[in-house]
Amino acid sequence: YGDFDFIVVSNRLPVDRVSGPDGETWRRSPGGLVTALAPVMAKADGAWVGWPGSPDEEVEPFDHDNMYLKPVPLSTDEVELYYEGFSNATLWPLYHDVIAAPEFHRTWWDAYRTVNRRFADAAASVASKGATVWVQDYQLQLVPQLLRQARPDLKIGFFNHIPFPPLEIFAQLPWRRNIIEGLLGADLIGFQRPSDASNFLRCVRRFAGYTIRQQQVNVTTEDGLSYVSRAEAFPISIDAGQIAELAQREDVIERSKQIRRELGNPDTVLLGVDRLDYTKGISHRLKAYGELLEDGRITVENAAMIQVASPSRERVEQYRLLREEVEGTVGRISGSFDTISNTALRYLHHSYPVEEMVALYLAADVMLVTALRDGMNLVAKEYVAARTGNTGTLVLSEFTGAADQLRQAVLVNPHDIDGLKAAILTAVNMPAREASRRMRLMRRQVLQNDVERWSQNFLEALEQDQAREQTED
Ligand code: G6P
Repeated sequence: YGDFDFIVVSNRLPVDRVSGPDGETWRRSPGGLVTALAPVMAKADGAWVGWPGSPDEEVEPFDHDNMYLKPVPLSTDEVELYYEGFSNATLWPLYHDVIAAPEFHRTWWDAYRTVNRRFADAAASVASKGATVWVQDYQLQLVPQLLRQARPDLKIGFFNHIPFPPLEIFAQLPWRRNIIEGLLGADLIGFQRPSDASNFLRCVRRFAGYTIRQQQVNVTTEDGLSYVSRAEAFPISIDAGQIAELAQREDVIERSKQIRRELGNPDTVLLGVDRLDYTKGISHRLKAYGELLEDGRITVENAAMIQVASPSRERVEQYRLLREEVEGTVGRISGSFDTISNTALRYLHHSYPVEEMVALYLAADVMLVTALRDGMNLVAKEYVAARTGNTGTLVLSEFTGAADQLRQAVLVNPHDIDGLKAAILTAVNMPAREASRRMRLMRRQVLQNDVERWSQNFLEALEQDQAREQTED
């Protein structure tokens, strides 16, 4: 047995390598998950198991932020086959409504299995007797079962951050049964939306032959284990307090004003913020905006759009193609509508620190979230949390998990370009009182349901499962 009572397992470690004056060090990565879990880690003797983020890197375990970090190395081949291949060119498109065509390669699957086993072994080696292990996301769906086989004493949770597809789509996967059985190794399997959980349960019935009662499955394994596994929705959120606090900081507010000045003080600033990913509907959004300029419903004199597209998975073919397509569209819009004194569109292929993101949120009158499919979409929640003055309008795709919670957004089907154009105009022209009424309600939702509450809800549900099983014994 290992020494740690609470272990998180995710593809990436929650730290980034930075080089400073005293050589290389690690810095906590931005993002809600580590913020939510750091307090639990500090209290409970926590360890985090994950890949350091570059190939062929052998890093010794180390302490950081009151956490024990256990690096799992990946070779160059494994990065190509397990990460870029099976995770991001098979599962990612398959789980996002096949917006891009998933590729099925047996060599990718073999690497996925090998790497999942390595993560499971690493987690098992640090977990104390009866520890809680929480496995994160689609890259590691076999880990729950592998852990259960090696260590039946553990409490195992799994959370899927991305959608879980409908049975008719999941059915394409040659290894569908292995994935379902992999996930069923967990006591509790969390999803973003109730529809993800029900999609999963249908697949459990069909591909693993279990009957489902009240979202529960009585699992029996070949080596004679029997336990209850449960699937349920736990919509993730953000560190809303941190965003709201930054939004009230003098320098951040000043920066947001500067951004508007530098755009030439237009009446309306529209904003898109995404990883450069084909699930995000960036092209649909640009098309709608370009047509509004074309129609003269929006003019470069009174409106400007900023599109931040942070670089992502750049070695995967579909992402390269997407970049070419988006940059072509950006060039056409800028070429047609920019003037010497006004820019119709600023396109930024960078990632920025959170302070700059909040300044952008504050500078934007209209936030455009037009994903074709998205597990949650945290950008929508960040925008809302940043609007401390209750101004601003959110245009939000109904194909995001966030649409379940942010009901007062202007909801759109991004495939419907005319509908999207109408939604953008509704947002641009929304009377201030109406915008503020909606923003107030959305802010309350986000501030009350932050990411710490999310992790508490999940972990309490996981504990309860165990309590019930013990009473039944
Ligand atoms: C999504 C996934 C995460 C992933 C992130 C960034 O949010 O759910 O698991 O870490 O994208 O992608 P990357 O491939 O760079 O880790």
